[in-house]
Amino acid sequence: MSARKKNILSAVVASMVVIGSLPARASIFDDPSNLRILAEDISAAELRTTMRSFAEGTGSRCSACHVGKIEADLSSYDFALDEKEKKLKAREMIKLVRNINEQIATAFADTGQPLVEVTCATCHRGQEKPEMIEDILQRSVESDGLDAAIAQYRDLRERYHGSYTFDFSERVLMRLAEFYGVNGDYDAALGFIDLNLEFFPRSSRTYVLRAQVLAETDDIAGARRDYERALELEPESAWIKQQLAELD
Ligand code: HEC
Ligand code: HEC
Repeated sequence: MSARKKNILSAVVASMVVIGSLPARASIFDDPSNLRILAEDISAAELRTTMRSFAEGTGSRCSACHVGKIEADLSSYDFALDEKEKKLKAREMIKLVRNINEQIATAFADTGQPLVEVTCATCHRGQEKPEMIEDILQRSVESDGLDAAIAQYRDLRERYHGSYTFDFSERVLMRLAEFYGVNGDYDAALGFIDLNLEFFPRSSRTYVLRAQVLAETDDIAGARRDYERALELEPESAWIKQQLAELD
């Protein structure tokens, strides 16, 4: 099987996990009676694809926007009802996506290249609200403290690592640590740095960052130890050598 076919297959399997199995006959999509934004004469197949992309893109089940029980058969849902706030918000979002794509089409008409189409997934990446992990953690520090934020990072990593929802690369916790370091909250800075070293134990840049924070707190011995570790990982770095020399 080609790689491409495998990708399509796994996308279909993933979609079944999110939205549950759809009935073999696409009957629920046949006679929409309350489309305000989508074309009223949309085909059942296209409406089905559109709804799947809404559900997958925003990591939601049909019942997030439609009236019906998660565990119940979709044929018992009343999709035409406008009772859920999220459905109303989703209507605004359909308009937003259209506007964005129109603006892109206008702005890039002269390139003669195929246009990139923005979809729900472009922003949402499988989340109900498209948030960046650093913003979530920062809020968590403010409301519940550093330990809670660290526990939350572990939990999110457990659940989302390998998905497209959050970035778990080396830079993210460093950016957070830099933010707290600059603002003088050295406990938070060191907390996120230690967490990063747990997942990236060979990150010389994280050791350098910890050395900088420790130097700010006048822990010169600690700073030296971390610059030395960074240098072991990156022996060619003239810059780290210079930082070490400047400590003396
Ligand atoms: C993020 C919100 C959202 C999710 C999730 C969602 N929908 Fe929808 N759905 C909408 C909106 C908004 C409309 C109305 C669009 C319009 O007014 O043009 C709609 C319309 C429909 C309609 C047409 C109803 C009618 O009679 O007018 C059907 C059928 C439908 N959705 C099925 C589904 C199914 C099945 C799922 C799960 C796979 C799903 N939807 C997931 C937001 C959502
Ligand atoms: C350009 C980026 C962007 C795109 C594209 C986008 N959204 Fe959103 N959406 C957002 C942002 C940002 C929020 C959060 C607003 C807030 O609460 O601050 C949001 C919120 C929502 C919410 C409310 C979530 C909640 O829990 O309150 C729904 C529902 C939603 N979007 C559905 C959609 C659907 C369906 C699509 C595709 C048709 C879509 N969005 C496309 C940026 C986007």
